[in-house]
Amino acid sequence: MFTPIERILDGEIAEGKAVKIRGWIYRTRQQGKLNFVVVRDASGVIQCAVKKGVVSDDHFEGATKALIESAVIVEGTVKKDARAHGGYELVASAFDVLHFSEIFPISKDQSTEFLLDVRHLWLRSRELTAVMRIKANVLAAIRDFCKQEGYFETTPPILTTSAAEGGSTLFELDYFGKKAFLSQSAQLHLEALIFSLEKVYAITPSFRAEKSRTNKHLTEYWHFEGEAAHVDNEGIMQFEERLLEYVCHRIAKENTKELAELGRDAKELAAVTAPFERVPYAEAIKRLQKKGVKIKDGDDFGADEEKLLTDDKTQPIFITHFPASMKPFYMKENPDGTANNHDLLAPKGFGELIGGSERETDLKTIEAKLEKAGEKLENYAWYLDLRRYGSVQHSGYGLGVERLVRWVCGLEHIRDATPFPRVINRAYP
Ligand code: 4AD
Ligand code: MG
Repeated sequence: MFTPIERILDGEIAEGKAVKIRGWIYRTRQQGKLNFVVVRDASGVIQCAVKKGVVSDDHFEGATKALIESAVIVEGTVKKDARAHGGYELVASAFDVLHFSEIFPISKDQSTEFLLDVRHLWLRSRELTAVMRIKANVLAAIRDFCKQEGYFETTPPILTTSAAEGGSTLFELDYFGKKAFLSQSAQLHLEALIFSLEKVYAITPSFRAEKSRTNKHLTEYWHFEGEAAHVDNEGIMQFEERLLEYVCHRIAKENTKELAELGRDAKELAAVTAPFERVPYAEAIKRLQKKGVKIKDGDDFGADEEKLLTDDKTQPIFITHFPASMKPFYMKENPDGTANNHDLLAPKGFGELIGGSERETDLKTIEAKLEKAGEKLENYAWYLDLRRYGSVQHSGYGLGVERLVRWVCGLEHIRDATPFPRVINRAYP
């Protein structure tokens, strides 16, 4: 039986008690007949004191020889030590090296490009470990909340023949001699599923051939999307804000250590509270103009505008009712030309987390919009069927999981919210 290091650091093991841990050498320091070997496992890091004469000669020699990242098993007794990182030390009685590591290529002060080249190894860093632990919990929290709200998790396809978000960011592929795409969004297929399950969601990879290099765009990202029958734009926004509150509170409560390790203030997440401010697009334009931005009705927000709108906020905000002409064919249009839609922006310039809307239900209107967008109706024949057989009011949204994790963790770049980032110049490792 192996004890997770976290349990020792949490003070769950009585001082003097013998335990066995298993992990990798994080750091090592020699002081004559005493080796201080810091060992990490998935849960934490702890210093082990390996003393000649206390462990066997073989084991002492192993501890002396073993380089960083060697895989080890350590048996020893727990000792409180204010000087040790984490407040506890393990006094080793046995030190087994399972694998002697070669010289690890990562040391201090290496370039970002190099660290991305050895991402498969850099994932062992404390920072990325903390992020991945938080990401796992974000995904768990999303699933728990959806279940609690009566949503069914579904599994829409990734290989598709219809585009949801326009042609410019589609990855095209040859599907046995026919043209197909990697999915940009599961939305259209989720819409089909509401007619049987009413409330559905999916967490799938989405692909965008983004040519821009920014700190918020990946070419492959995880997309959490939901769709619900008999719900309007306001109703789906209420679901989203409650979900976000739930996720933020859970992370603040359950990932306190990881947040601290990342230098992120857990109190800020604990304070996220629905409802969020709703700002109509027209009002957002006015706010920006007041701040001296040269922007006019019909312009989209770039990173600078998103930052100006949210710099002084502590809570996310919704921007609602964009001009329908700026938005995809499926959004419900109001008589005044606005769309019944919303974007959710994270505070402090972290940018768009969610895009969502009420969906157009009328067959003729959708056909006209598709034609105006230069799309062939035959490519959407199946989708148009959904407006032929029992069409009902419905709404949905898509949330970029890495965008959310980036904000929750307070990361500079979105690539650190995913283990193996795909961006315009990188699909390795
Ligand atoms: O705003 P988007 O393009 O909306 C849709 O795809 C809708 N069909 C969703 C729906 O209603 N079911 O994308 C939704 C979210 C964005 O708000 C953003 O968080 C994320 O997906 N996203 C990206 N995340 C990382 N890298 C990219 N290149 C992203 N593009 C969008
Ligand atoms: Mg969007």
